[in-house]
Amino acid sequence: MSILAKPVLLIGAGHMGGALIAGWRRARALEPGELMIRDPEPGTQALAAADWGASLNGPDDRLAAAKTVVLAVKPQAWRAAAAAVAPFLASDATVVSVVAGIETRDLSQAFGARPVARVMPTTAAAICRGAASIWASTAAARAAAHAVFEPLGAVVDLADEALMHAATGASGSAPAYVYALVEALQAAGVAAGLEVGAARELARATVIGAAGLLEASGEDAAELRRQVTSAGGTTAAALGVLTGDGALERLMTRTVAAAAARSRALSHE
Ligand SMILES: NC(=O)c1ccc[n+]([C@@H]2O[C@H](COP(=O)([O-])OP(=O)(O)OC[C@H]3O[C@@H](n4cnc5c(N)ncnc54)[C@H](OP(=O)(O)O)[C@@H]3O)[C@@H](O)[C@H]2O)c1
Repeated sequence: MSILAKPVLLIGAGHMGGALIAGWRRARALEPGELMIRDPEPGTQALAAADWGASLNGPDDRLAAAKTVVLAVKPQAWRAAAAAVAPFLASDATVVSVVAGIETRDLSQAFGARPVARVMPTTAAAICRGAASIWASTAAARAAAHAVFEPLGAVVDLADEALMHAATGASGSAPAYVYALVEALQAAGVAAGLEVGAARELARATVIGAAGLLEASGEDAAELRRQVTSAGGTTAAALGVLTGDGALERLMTRTVAAAAARSRALSHE
């Protein structure tokens, strides 16, 4: 376990920033006095953290205390957010950015050449079941990012910054693919004759149960699939449609590539 340098300053407490707050609190990674939050329109998690005792939109002269700065604003807002805090930060503060597509070279420049790590997280960080892909050019910045995300789930180091685009497509954006799968399974259940409520309950419970078994068993997904697919049975018939001729793999490859391409484009906007 890497040691988290505190206090932590979180810039942007929307969907992802809010998930980080919830996860840190669940994991007891921080005491209230060790969390500073900046957000012009604080949402539920930021307000709950302020009730808990964290500092919310405190004075600029307090920012110098921050040892780790987590940047979690939208890509369009990052330059303004960085410019608003950078002059007040201590020279040894490390910046950990979860902003999709924005490169460490640009981030480091905007933060006065302070060390920067990039992370592509998932919102399941809120329940400490996240997946975080990490890249940094220095061991110290990488360790800072590990310390921020290890309490929040799995962490994976990337060998090259360019791989952040692939990690965005294959992980950061991917919870939405799973939710879309649940929606499609529910709709298909209705199309097959189930009532809406029953189809919803079954789709949710089936996906949650399959994910739980994946975790509890530690088996590869391919092995679990084989275990529930008997030759000539109903599941084999279904998979003939879903994965026959590599259909699902081709669709998923295009899906991940679209997210990666958007991430590349964001880095040039
Ligand atoms: N959501 C995900 O699943 C996910 C996954 C991986 C990575 N990310 C990355 O996480 C970042 C945040 O995404 P999100 O979905 O959490 O966006 P979001 O819900 O819009 O949250 C961003 C928050 O930052 C606030 N903000 C804007 N300007 C600010 C400033 N100058 N200083 C402080 N706070 C400011 C926004 O306030 P206003 O609403 O007032 O603008 C908003 O509350 C993005 O860069 C995204 O690439 C997200």
